[in-house]
Amino acid sequence: MLLTDKSAMVTGAGSGIGRAIATSYAREGAAVLVADIDRAGARETVSLIEAAGGRALAFALDVRQPEQHLDAVGEAVKRFGGLHIACNNAGLGGGGASGRYLPLAETALEDWDALIGVNLSGVFYGLRAQIPAMLQAGGGSIVNIASVMAQTARPNLGAYVSSKHGVLGLTRAAAVDYAPQKLRVNAIGPGYIDTPMLARADAGKRAAIAGWHPVGRLGEAQEIAELAVWLASDRASFVTGAYYPVDGGYLAQ
Ligand SMILES: NC(=O)c1ccc[n+]([C@@H]2O[C@H](COP(=O)([O-])OP(=O)(O)OC[C@H]3O[C@@H](n4cnc5c(N)ncnc54)[C@H](O)[C@@H]3O)[C@@H](O)[C@H]2O)c1
Repeated sequence: MLLTDKSAMVTGAGSGIGRAIATSYAREGAAVLVADIDRAGARETVSLIEAAGGRALAFALDVRQPEQHLDAVGEAVKRFGGLHIACNNAGLGGGGASGRYLPLAETALEDWDALIGVNLSGVFYGLRAQIPAMLQAGGGSIVNIASVMAQTARPNLGAYVSSKHGVLGLTRAAAVDYAPQKLRVNAIGPGYIDTPMLARADAGKRAAIAGWHPVGRLGEAQEIAELAVWLASDRASFVTGAYYPVDGGYLAQ
């Protein structure tokens, strides 16, 4: 087991990629704070972890609220005796609040605010709360879930692309600030992954999206989680400030 005796928290862990990461951290021996705005989803993830013999706690967290991050970190420290691993995963899909995909200048202000608020400010507020606790524990590992859209763009995704490029900036900034204190910060760039985030796409759209990847299929949440485990573990001790695509070849084209 790679994460024995570690304490971890995962945001957006009530669904999709976050759930796969939370269950995988627990499988590797970590106690996991399962944070999500969706309480029922968080509780379901905790049930899955407990059924597999792991240790977890559900926590209601809206990543747009800085003080709720402080509460979440405080709870992990109180219940698990510290914080060693954090995964900032909560995010909204490309259409933002309205689900509309439009050229940049036509992006509704509410969609811009929603995507930057959750996907970018939500990660900053997380880092701001997690880093002091992890320094107190003598260091640790933070994994931010970005996207292939942190490195490239597709049409009509301007706010999402901007938010994910920002996550990469935050990752690098935090990595260089805290590397001397044994705190590592890295980002993962998933290609299109088969989670509820893609639920709006009908069968034809899903097939088209799959075809954008050289492997010819969508990714699975577990395929992201395996890298998130490795980055969180001491096996990745010389890895910080890095960005790893897990994208079926999407960015290689
Ligand atoms: N699915 C993909 O194709 C894909 C591709 C690249 C990157 N990503 C990124 O992966 C992450 C997870 O996405 P997913 O596919 O698992 O989506 P998902 O919709 O299945 O899960 C997202 C989770 O985030 C939670 N969430 C949303 N707003 C929140 C808030 N304000 N506070 C706390 N939690 C909140 C939701 O309740 C949900 O449980 C996101 O950051 C997303 O941008 C997904």
